[in-house]
Amino acid sequence: MRLVFLGPPGVGKGTQATRAAAAHGIPQISTGDILREAVRRGSELGVKAGEYMDRGALVPDEVVVGLVAERTARPDCVPGFILDGFPRTVPQAQALDVMLASRGLPLSAVVTMVAPAEEIVRRLSSRRVCPGCGRVYAGNPDGSGPAACEADGQALAQRSDDHPEVIRERLKVYEVQTAPLIGHYGALGLVREVDGLGAVDEVAARIGQVLAGLPGR
Ligand code: AP5
Repeated sequence: MRLVFLGPPGVGKGTQATRAAAAHGIPQISTGDILREAVRRGSELGVKAGEYMDRGALVPDEVVVGLVAERTARPDCVPGFILDGFPRTVPQAQALDVMLASRGLPLSAVVTMVAPAEEIVRRLSSRRVCPGCGRVYAGNPDGSGPAACEADGQALAQRSDDHPEVIRERLKVYEVQTAPLIGHYGALGLVREVDGLGAVDEVAARIGQVLAGLPGR
C-alpha cells in the first residue's frame, strides 16, 4: 500500500499517518521530520533547510525529491509506505509520478484531510513537541497541557514554525503551492477525502474505513 497524506499544516497528517503506518506495518515518511532531524544534527542540509522552515517557506523541490527517492528505495518500503508532507508542489508530484512509474509501483491513494481554518490555527498554536524524540503532543490554547515527554521526560517545546506569523505564512503557502495537488491527484482518481475534525480516534477510524475500501484490500 503506497499512500500520500495531504492537507494543510496542523490538520493532523502526522498524527494519523503514524497510526495508519503502525496499523499496516509500513513506514511513515515525513519530509518535515527528516528535515527537522537534519536541522537538529546541524548538517549542511539542516542549515540550508532551516532557513526556509523558520519562515514557513518550502525547502527547494530538488532537495526533498532527492530525500524521498533515497528513502523510498530502502528495503522497509517494499510492502508500502505513507508519504506525510510530500509532495507539496506540482513539480514534486510530477517527480514522484515519474519515480514510482520507473519502479512499476503506482500510488494506492491520496488521503486528503480537511478541517476548518480556526481549528487548524488552534491545533498548531497549542502543539508541543519533544525536542529529544520528536513526539507530538496536543496542548491547549491557554498554554496548559502536558509539560514533559512521556517517553524520555524531556521538557516539551514549541516548534520554531508554530508561531502566529509563521503559521499564517505556512497556510498561505499551502493554498498557493500544495492545494492544487488535489486536482492533480483527483484527475488520476486517487483522492479520498477524510474529515479531520473530531477526536483522534474518530479520525483514525474514518481513515481505516477508507483504506479498507481500497482496491485489492
Ligand atoms: P511539516 O512538518 O510537514 O509540517 P506541516 O505540513 O506544516 O504539517 P504539520 O506537521 O504542522 O501538521 P500535521 O498535519 O502533521 O499535524 P499534526 O498531526 O502534527 O513541514 C514543516 C516544514 O518543513 C515546511 O513548512 C517546509 O519548510 C518543510 N517541508 C516539509 N516537507 C516539505 C516538502 N515536501 N517540500 C518542501 N518543504 C518541505 O497535528 C497538529 C496538532 O494537532 C498536534 O498537536 C496534534 O497532537 C493535534 N491533533 C492532531 N489531530 C487532532 C485531533 N483530531 N483533534 C485535536 N488535536 C489534534
